[in-house]
Amino acid sequence: LKIAVLASGSGSNLQSIIDAVERGSLKADIRLVLCNRSDAYALERAKNAGIPTTTILHADYKSRETFDAAMIEQLQAADVDLVVLAGFMRILTPLFIQTFAGRIINIHPALLPSFKGAHGITDAVKYGVTLAGCTVHFVDEIMDNGAIIAQAVVPFTSEEPVEVVQNRVLKLEHRIYPQVLQWISTGRVTLNGRKVFVQDI
Ligand code: GRF
Repeated sequence: LKIAVLASGSGSNLQSIIDAVERGSLKADIRLVLCNRSDAYALERAKNAGIPTTTILHADYKSRETFDAAMIEQLQAADVDLVVLAGFMRILTPLFIQTFAGRIINIHPALLPSFKGAHGITDAVKYGVTLAGCTVHFVDEIMDNGAIIAQAVVPFTSEEPVEVVQNRVLKLEHRIYPQVLQWISTGRVTLNGRKVFVQDI
C-alpha cells in the first residue's frame, strides 16, 4: 500500500504509522509526508525516518482550489493509493476529494458523529460525556462526515484535566490508525456507499 500522510502539526500519528512500518506490523510504503506549515514537527519525524517531504504553504495560494491543485500534483507524482490525513488542519475542496474519491481517510479525536470540528475533545469534556474516543473514517465532501471504519473508546472522570483526556485519546489513536491501515493494505476494507465492511476482524 503506497500512502501519503498529510499533517499540519506534531505528527504523533505519523510517528505511530512510521513505527508500525518499522516494526513490520504494517506493510505500507510511506511515499510522501506533505505539510502545509514549515514548522510542523511532522516534517522532522519524516526526515528522521528517511521519508520524502513536501511543504506546500497554503498562504502562498490565492484560493483553496489552487492550494489543493498543488497538493494533488504532488500526490499524483508520488503515485499513492491512499491519502492519510493525520492532524491536517485544512478543509479540502471537492476537487481534492473527487480526485481521490474513496481513497482518503482521517482520524478524529471524538466518537463521531458527536463533536465534529477542531475541538472534539474539549467539546466532549465540556458536554459532560464520560467516554472519550476516536474515529477513523473515509473523507467525503462534508467535514468529519464520511463513512466510519473504526472507533475506540476510553473512559475518564470529571476530575481529570482535559490534557489527561487528550493524552489518553491520542494514545488510542496511535493504536487504531496503524491498525486500520493494515486492514486496508491487506484488502480487508470495502466501502459501499456509507457502509464499510471490514473482513475478518
Ligand atoms: C489528533 O488528535 C487527530 O485526531 C486530529 O489532530 C491531532 C493530530 O495529532 N485530527 P498529531 O499531529 O498526529 O500528533
